[in-house]
Amino acid sequence: MTVVMMTAIHIPVMVREVIEALAVRPGGRYVDCTVGEGGHAEAILETASPGGQLLGIDRDPYALAVAEERLSPYGDNVVLVEGNYQDIVGICRSHGFGLIDGILLDLGVSSFQLEQARRGFSFSRQGPLDMRFSPTDMLTAADIVNGYREEDLADLLWRFGDERRSRRIARCIVEQRPILTTTQLARAVEQAVGKRGQSVTHPATRTFLALRIAVNSELAHLAAALEEAHGLLDGSGARMAVLSYHSLEDRIVKEFFRREASDCICPPGTPVCTCNHRATLRLLNRKPLRPSDLEVLINPRSRSARLRAAERL
Ligand SMILES: C[S@@+](CC[C@H](N)C(=O)[O-])C[C@H]1O[C@@H](n2cnc3c(N)ncnc32)[C@H](O)[C@@H]1O
Repeated sequence: MTVVMMTAIHIPVMVREVIEALAVRPGGRYVDCTVGEGGHAEAILETASPGGQLLGIDRDPYALAVAEERLSPYGDNVVLVEGNYQDIVGICRSHGFGLIDGILLDLGVSSFQLEQARRGFSFSRQGPLDMRFSPTDMLTAADIVNGYREEDLADLLWRFGDERRSRRIARCIVEQRPILTTTQLARAVEQAVGKRGQSVTHPATRTFLALRIAVNSELAHLAAALEEAHGLLDGSGARMAVLSYHSLEDRIVKEFFRREASDCICPPGTPVCTCNHRATLRLLNRKPLRPSDLEVLINPRSRSARLRAAERL
């Protein structure tokens, strides 16, 4: 409870659209792979009452403590598990969640995590360079910042942060090592590329994003989870929805959905189909859904959200 009171709670993004995309119904069984502080989970449980059940997974025990408090009115209809969504099949099996009506992934970091300075996610709050979702992981952002070779650091900023000035930033970081705090790193990036000028985003935004993705192996976990998760959907009509916040995540989701919605995945130009692939999903929207202008006004963090959803065939 102390955690709830000390830190602003995360505002869940595109809640109505998520509930519609999952076609949540009373008595249904749902898995929230990124339950966080339980915002989407609460809306799912409310819509699935009476009798709906939800299994919530998160790597972050601090977020789970908030979710536990928030979802307590739903009693035995909620199971919360500290774990990695890439292990969704094993987690569901060990908690008696066989076939499921809907699966949600809401990717990235929450405001709750960003605002805890000691977690090291935010360039505007002084804290240790940590950035781990799970305190049981070994690798921290400080290990990467202080341990990687300059070329590898530049490559990471380029690949995961889409940072055009990756070489200049990597050089400046290496010159200033050891870098132990978020604000020290943000200053080093500022020195490398200059202050923000007219831009609304801080110059260290992409560097922090890239480090967070690398520390938590986010893209590999997402790709693995998608492969695993859709096999759990309870036959025709069960649904899967994914909220992503940057292009690399969205590309993985788009390509996965597109492949699973196709009867043939042979390389283009193959004269005769040899893959024997059969579509397992039907796309619910060809283009991702975006938040309304009103939602972006109320919750600016939602501005980059893209929602993709598919139905099991
Ligand atoms: C945007 S937040 C989710 C917020 C949540 N939907 C809500 O309404 O409160 C994303 C969450 O995903 C969790 N997460 C990130 N990678 C994960 C993984 N591989 N397995 C499980 N949880 C993960 C983070 O710890 C974070 O709490």
